Amino acid sequence: MPFLQLSDVSKGYGEGPGRTSVLRDISLTIEKGEFVAIVGYSGVGKTTLINLIAGLARPDSGTVTLNDLEITEPGPDRGIVFQNYSLLPWLNVAENIRLAVDQVFPNWAEAKKSRHVDHYIAMVNLTPARDKKPAELSGGMRQRVSVARALAMDPQILLLDEPLSALDALTRATLQDEIGRIWQENRKTVVLITNDPDEGIYLADRIIPLSAGPNATLGPSLTVDIPRPRDRRALNHDPRFKDLRRQIFAYMLESRAAQRVAVSRKLVLPDLEPEDLDRPRPNAGRVGPIRRGEWKRETVEVQ
Ligand SMILES: Nc1ncnc2c1ncn2[C@@H]1O[C@H](COP(=O)(O)OP(=O)(O)OP(=O)(O)O)[C@@H](O)[C@H]1O
Ligand SMILES: [Mg+2]
Repeated sequence: MPFLQLSDVSKGYGEGPGRTSVLRDISLTIEKGEFVAIVGYSGVGKTTLINLIAGLARPDSGTVTLNDLEITEPGPDRGIVFQNYSLLPWLNVAENIRLAVDQVFPNWAEAKKSRHVDHYIAMVNLTPARDKKPAELSGGMRQRVSVARALAMDPQILLLDEPLSALDALTRATLQDEIGRIWQENRKTVVLITNDPDEGIYLADRIIPLSAGPNATLGPSLTVDIPRPRDRRALNHDPRFKDLRRQIFAYMLESRAAQRVAVSRKLVLPDLEPEDLDRPRPNAGRVGPIRRGEWKRETVEVQ
């Protein structure tokens, strides 16, 4: 039995002629314990896809099931790390995580809850910052708290919506390593949304490109047949890595080319060439705007 299954899912927003169709015919099966990355352009519908799995949005057509049960609302079986840091600003690191633990394990003894919280804080290397408020943390640290909070709920599946996109390249690489290590320790089912094919290949068992929108759909599912633990530096020279990268880029670029609007609009731009003050003006001495007949016109085609 498939663990997570999306069958012919479509989703759009708005009504009438202004309606935008975002996702179309999304079918995806994920087995328990798999790490699947979905890579797509910005604004294509990645968060929409995560929201459908999270139960924060319902599909217009098609079904989303977890363990054969249709997903109709959010639940603690799905831990989410949102794209934007989503911590409560008045609570410190430990309290933010504790809040989630209280919700999911209300019957646990105090000491057990505290140990549990501290375990996950240590897992994301934040023990020295456990009493700090979100405003006192860097972006990378905040995302680690979000990861710890999601894991502390012991969900069946972890949904990561571009958790590292807002970070600088070095912090991003460090956190990628941490996510890889934590996954090796926990073997949770993970859906990672990313805009970076390299990140997806580095971390996942399978990577699936999302076509350019509107009406984005999933492309071929590519198995990342590279043994773990993966070495970031060696990966760059690995022919399997290069080949996967090439396939993903080819699919995404082709899908974007196919989406290009066939009609082009003609725009007439005003002549705004800066004047070279060293050259004599053609109408030297004349004051006032250039006459209509003197305009230079330029036609450009915009796709
Ligand atoms: N609640 C909503 N109501 C109306 N339109 C929405 C809503 N949520 C998303 N959209 C639109 O759907 C499209 C896809 O949005 P979504 O946030 O899923 O994209 P994304 O791939 O996550 O983008 P990004 O890479 O910037 O995070 C966008 O055009 C967006 O404007
Ligand atoms: Mg998004």
